[in-house]
Amino acid sequence: MTVNTPSLAGLSQEQKREMLQRALEKRGTSNGSAKDNDVRAVIDQIPESAYRFDKFPEYYRLHLQRTLAENAGIPNPYFREHDSYGGATTVVDGRNLLNFGMYNYLGLNGDPRVNAAAMASIERYGTSASASRVVSGERPIHRALEVRLAELHEADDAVAFVSGHATNVSVIASLLGSGDLVLHDRLVHNSVMQGAMLSGATRQAFPHNDWQAVDAILAESRRRFDKVLIVVEGLYSMDGDICPLDRFVEIKRRHKALLMVDEAHSMGVLGATGRGAREHFGLASTDVDIWMGTLSKSFASCGGYIAGNSALIELLKLTASGFVYSVGLPPPMAAAALASIEIMLAEPERVATLRANGQLFLNLAKARGLNTGLSQGINVVPVILGQSVLAARLAAMLHERGMETPPIIHPAVEERAARLRLFISSLHSKDQIHQAVEMIAEALAEIKPPKEDL
Ligand SMILES: Cc1ncc(COP(=O)(O)O)c(C=O)c1O
Repeated sequence: MTVNTPSLAGLSQEQKREMLQRALEKRGTSNGSAKDNDVRAVIDQIPESAYRFDKFPEYYRLHLQRTLAENAGIPNPYFREHDSYGGATTVVDGRNLLNFGMYNYLGLNGDPRVNAAAMASIERYGTSASASRVVSGERPIHRALEVRLAELHEADDAVAFVSGHATNVSVIASLLGSGDLVLHDRLVHNSVMQGAMLSGATRQAFPHNDWQAVDAILAESRRRFDKVLIVVEGLYSMDGDICPLDRFVEIKRRHKALLMVDEAHSMGVLGATGRGAREHFGLASTDVDIWMGTLSKSFASCGGYIAGNSALIELLKLTASGFVYSVGLPPPMAAAALASIEIMLAEPERVATLRANGQLFLNLAKARGLNTGLSQGINVVPVILGQSVLAARLAAMLHERGMETPPIIHPAVEERAARLRLFISSLHSKDQIHQAVEMIAEALAEIKPPKEDL
């Protein structure tokens, strides 16, 4: 194809200058023109908060919050340096602390067999997949993991991503678009909301676990949308309660919608053998369209995955941006996750111990009058305090006294829902659980007069 550009040959110097001047004026860049002065005046008005990070209002708010906390004598509870893996205890500043701040649900992070699997994989494949699996190929450990994940869900197939967060974002964004609807529980994880926003679909939150509200919304508006995706979590990460999944299955069928379940906190936790929400509710794999999980919690690794029917997995492997345009899961992380799954299946007593520990924690906390919200006492138990300052102060006192449990404050949750969130592990001993509840109750009684209703 030839491109016709006007020839300058044959034009005088004067004509060329005139042409250049006209072109510059058209682009608004001519030196010294009235228009140029106008543009400069407008640019002079642009505040620093539009182009300097340290002047961003968000940055200012962060600093204000930090200064207020420092003035109130509350040390920053975030980015604390731990000098061990997070088990029932952890080491900070050379002190051994009781640890209720990490989701090592089945105690597999730090298990020598999981470590050995990761190290053997490093020996063979190195530490990185070094490129996207689509174009640059994969290692056998990738498929071995995906086949095992599919088996856990009794699904046709599975695909693993490098991040749990990126899994939700890119899967939802790649499957839905304008003209579609994403209906999600109001307490669903940030990654689901980000995915819904990125997709361009209409996004609507429904009241927590309220399947009747979903039914009513769909009865009224299903016909206005092409695809409808309902997104729930198997067990909610902030509140520790189980989703009534069987109800959602029935509703999604009746309204010809798709159902996605984020099993980040229910895989390895629910079901007699830890196979998650499907096992807990006795569902068929096909009752749910998209089974999502993370490798960072029960499976002592890093990454996320989707399990489902072959068409879904085929589609995602070629369209989900977080898979196609991102590096493959590092082989040692795939090996650690696979080893964790094998151990979970061979040692179901870990799942039973986790659940017994969760129940014990919840019962003791309730007996001491702590507000545990909706928690069903499995792996997540909040202690709701209703004020960010109170949550931060309590966490700081507990840290001083030998216990690690980070505060969850606004804006991660609403101010009135500010809390401590405790993760229970199968590694915790009964003594440690008694000790933790006593420490929380005593510290809280010192901060807050006992007569006040928590
Ligand atoms: C419910 C839920 N989904 C997804 C994620 C993201 O997983 P990851 O931290 O492994 O990226 C999390 C993180 O904690 C989560 O709680």
